[in-house]
Amino acid sequence: MTLLGLVQAVYILAAVLFVLSLAGLSRQETARRGNALGMVGMVLALAATIALALDRSERSAVVTAILVALVLLVGAVVGTRQARSVEMTQMPELIAMLHSFVGAAAVLVGYNSFRTEPADTVHLVEVFLGVLIGAVTFTGSVVAYLKLSGRISSAPLSLPGRNLLNLAALVASAALLAWFLAGHSIVPLLLMTVVALALGWHLVASIGGGDMPVVVSMLNSYSGWAAAAAGFMLGNDLLIVTGALVGASGAILSYLMCKAMNRSFMSVILGGFGAPEGLVVARVDEDGEHRELDAAAVAALLREARSVVITPGYGMAVAKAQYPVAQLVTRLRALGVDVRFGVHPVAGRLPGHMNVLLAEAKVPYDIVLEMDEINGDLADTDVVLVIGANDTVNPAALDDPSSPIAGMPVLEVWKARQVVVFKRSMATGYAGVQNPLFFRDNTAMLFGDAREQTERIVAAL
Ligand code: TAP
Repeated sequence: MTLLGLVQAVYILAAVLFVLSLAGLSRQETARRGNALGMVGMVLALAATIALALDRSERSAVVTAILVALVLLVGAVVGTRQARSVEMTQMPELIAMLHSFVGAAAVLVGYNSFRTEPADTVHLVEVFLGVLIGAVTFTGSVVAYLKLSGRISSAPLSLPGRNLLNLAALVASAALLAWFLAGHSIVPLLLMTVVALALGWHLVASIGGGDMPVVVSMLNSYSGWAAAAAGFMLGNDLLIVTGALVGASGAILSYLMCKAMNRSFMSVILGGFGAPEGLVVARVDEDGEHRELDAAAVAALLREARSVVITPGYGMAVAKAQYPVAQLVTRLRALGVDVRFGVHPVAGRLPGHMNVLLAEAKVPYDIVLEMDEINGDLADTDVVLVIGANDTVNPAALDDPSSPIAGMPVLEVWKARQVVVFKRSMATGYAGVQNPLFFRDNTAMLFGDAREQTERIVAAL
């Protein structure tokens, strides 16, 4: 078997491992295995690609090997440091930064391929599209990273006629493509790169900080298509398959996130939603006051309960309350209370956010249920603890057709006998809308940091 044949065989194996990896990642119980399969696939793919590069290298194989090793070393050191120090809440910004590398790589591969490969029309289109998608992904991801890490303001940049600007950039790119194909000159490619860099910047700058998770998932999809385009340019089948997997899964994830938030994908991309997070909305109707409890009273309530459901949200992540929450669960289960979790598909700020936090705190998987699995049982539940969740438990989504979140499926916690809401104030959540749950007769507020309050309850128990 020739080296090329062997490399192709390894690529097929790696592609299968990537598919199995994605399948594994779809369930919490198999996620570890999924990760491991993906890592093995990536090691095989890298080894095969490096072996081919060494074989085809024009300079001595040793020099190439040293260069590759140096690059790998730098990447591995920086990557390991980043991954070790990143907090769960910073995950989206890390991912955004990584996507910018894929975009930049696609641009560089495009220029290199233009310089070195014969200029037939199909190849030129591949180069043009690869550079276009790569450049949009690059600046878009950089802006997403800057916004998520608070280095620039997360407020949407609302330039007048912003949709027209985007359209103009696309029309200009189409014209530049025609010029590029007719003249085979680098000038239209360079001009299009500038336009695409500006387009990526503008697209993401126009979107408010709160919508960034959907944007990151969309950029994930773009980075996949950019990688697939690079695969076509390099004639690398594995890169095409991997790029298509990432591109398609990112697109599906963006769609699912939008669906769970009851938003159209276009409305997210075109920006502008709700009020700023943390806004305190004055109550307009007079349904009564909210009621407050302290930690000792909540502990007493829990001791009396037979069934308890915990619905965590973004505030649990902010407060890092998952550890005392896990202790609370152990304590209550020891007292014979039936405790389960109800997790909304978009609780927190990234897909699977709550599941990851609960797994981190070693909460058993089998008591962590999805919204659809738990909603039917809430009417028979004695106490629901809403820990740092807000929009995902808002009855207005079902009762008030004029609410910005009308139609969003929610955890119907108000059906339980008693609800306790852990939060620091009466401020709104992500969508910036008031929550009538807080004023219901069977709801009590437990104000304060979710971590400190949960620790107090555990101590009182
Ligand atoms: P949110 O509606 O965002 O509410 C979180 C609540 O946590 C806030 O009202 C805040 O109230 C409270 N909080 C913050 N820090 C706290 C602390 N240290 N201790 C106690 N409470 C604290 O959360 P949710 O119910 O999880 O909903 C998620 C929202 O994000 C949805 O609107 C969803 O559409 C959106 N979203 C989700 C995703 C994904 S994929 N998960 C992506 C994009 C957008 P105080 O300030 O009063 O404490």
